[in-house]
Amino acid sequence: MDKIRWGIMATGRIAATFADAVNYVEDAELYACASRDEDRAKAFAEKFGVKKYYGDYEMMADDENVDVIYIASPMAQHYEQAKMCLLKGKNVLCEKTITLNGSQLAELIDIADKQNVFFMEAMWTKFLPAFRQAKKWVAEGRIGTPKMIKADFSNLCPFNAEDRLFKSSLGGGCLLDLGVYPITFACDFLGYEPAEIISNAYIGKSNVDFDASIILKYEDSFAHLTAGFDIENQNPAFVIGDKGRIRLGDWFFCTTEAMLYDDDGNLLEHFRKPHLKNGYEFEIMEVHECLKQGKKQSDINSLYHTTATMKIMDECRKQWGLRFDGE
Ligand SMILES: NC(=O)c1ccc[n+]([C@@H]2O[C@H](COP(=O)([O-])OP(=O)(O)OC[C@H]3O[C@@H](n4cnc5c(N)ncnc54)[C@H](OP(=O)(O)O)[C@@H]3O)[C@@H](O)[C@H]2O)c1
Repeated sequence: MDKIRWGIMATGRIAATFADAVNYVEDAELYACASRDEDRAKAFAEKFGVKKYYGDYEMMADDENVDVIYIASPMAQHYEQAKMCLLKGKNVLCEKTITLNGSQLAELIDIADKQNVFFMEAMWTKFLPAFRQAKKWVAEGRIGTPKMIKADFSNLCPFNAEDRLFKSSLGGGCLLDLGVYPITFACDFLGYEPAEIISNAYIGKSNVDFDASIILKYEDSFAHLTAGFDIENQNPAFVIGDKGRIRLGDWFFCTTEAMLYDDDGNLLEHFRKPHLKNGYEFEIMEVHECLKQGKKQSDINSLYHTTATMKIMDECRKQWGLRFDGE
């Protein structure tokens, strides 16, 4: 494989950011894009220099020149679109959260397995150098045994009944949109199978979760996690061990910084690495690496990891009595 030819499915906010990153990565070609509307597909193609555009998702999935499809639609659409692409033998990188629930995901994993294609959730945070550095410090024992995680992703989002964030029928709510980041963060340091999940949420007027608090309890450690649409926060994340702690930079899920402290609070190391483009290039490079090596999933962000975080989110929603419209 020389250049890897990407097809972008849906042309909304994140698709544009991702397109910039694909155009940055040397061995990537932004080959195709698809929208439900041909004019939107054409406008997107012109803006980002995409070779082919389709006013229909399935037509792009049928294009034999597309090596990998990036799905950038709302959560509720992921299952059908990913299923269609996987069944056509396409490699798929699907935006978070990969599906609405664990049973949809299990079915897709089964299809990906049978089709022998690559499948991954676009949990880009895990590939950021600052996050990798934090993992390295922990593996080297620099903070001793991790005992507690604190992480938040709260973002002031004024209510808009038409926005996917607030629409139950599109998989809206803060858990799947934002909470998936702190949950993934906690699991990557403390483990993907907490012994207990304790959670609560404010369910807003459009019947989706506007704010959520989650505790993951492990044998001898805890994660305290929050997410929400009602407050603006700096969104820090800490990994606290019995010999020191790590703080990711503000807005931890997209940070370029990680700080290592000893247990007296003295700063030992300050890691900084600017994004090469906008941060999404790192997950694209990982997909390329996997495709070139013939791997069907990423070790850093495996389908086991995604399944486990989805299971936690299913349990949270069960505790809140919350289901999506049509689920
Ligand atoms: N990784 C990240 O940092 C990040 C950041 C933001 C969002 N996301 C994820 O990316 C996905 C899309 O988020 P977004 O903020 O880009 O959403 P968005 O701006 O609302 O765009 C979603 C796009 O999906 C397509 N679509 C297909 N069916 C749709 C429907 N029934 N209603 C509305 N749009 C529909 C539309 O594109 P066409 O009209 O062209 O078909 C639309 O522009 C979500 O899964 C979200 O969680 C990830």
